[in-house]
Amino acid sequence: MKTDVEYLRFMWPMRHFLITSGDIEGKSNIIAVSFCMPVSKEPPLIACAIGKRFYSSELIEETGEFVVNVPPQELRRQIQYCGFNSGYDVDKFKETGLTPKPARKVKAPIIDECEAHMECKVRQEIETGDKRLFIGEVIEAYADEALARGERSVEYAKGDFPKRVYAIRFRE
Ligand SMILES: Cc1cc2nc3c(=O)[nH]c(=O)nc-3n(C[C@H](O)[C@H](O)[C@H](O)COP(=O)(O)O)c2cc1C
Repeated sequence: MKTDVEYLRFMWPMRHFLITSGDIEGKSNIIAVSFCMPVSKEPPLIACAIGKRFYSSELIEETGEFVVNVPPQELRRQIQYCGFNSGYDVDKFKETGLTPKPARKVKAPIIDECEAHMECKVRQEIETGDKRLFIGEVIEAYADEALARGERSVEYAKGDFPKRVYAIRFRE
């Protein structure tokens, strides 16, 4: 016997990322994103689905760039803040205390407290439903040395945190 379910429940577990956009010298923003995955190895492409009405969507459209930052588990409070507040209303760098640092090739800042960074140039945009899918080419990718050497691995989302978030965020 099978019964209807909300499909997102069965997409777990999902990683969460902090995506930065804008210009470190002007307006910049951070959004928590889990709808994010690699979609090509050669060229290296990442696809991220971001709400059409979100500030991040506006900034990424404007600049054609974004950075996927990989946060350690300790940043869960900041992830939650960036996932429940809009850059239209607050300065998330100021409110979370996260540190913006210049990226190598794009104008958007990286988040210093994150462990790995993928700098992306938008190659394609697709309107899906409530989201806009940004497909970005990874032009730079770098990580903390211990992670890069494989002495330590990136922690994956654990416990009920993201599941609980999604139950709230994506209820129809
Ligand atoms: C863990 C987590 C994951 C999220 N994943 C996504 C996502 O993949 N796409 C999306 O559009 N919103 C996602 N959200 C919601 C946005 O982060 C949230 O709506 C945010 O306030 C938008 O910010 P902005 O207006 O500053 O861009 C997520 C929230 C959390 C807490």
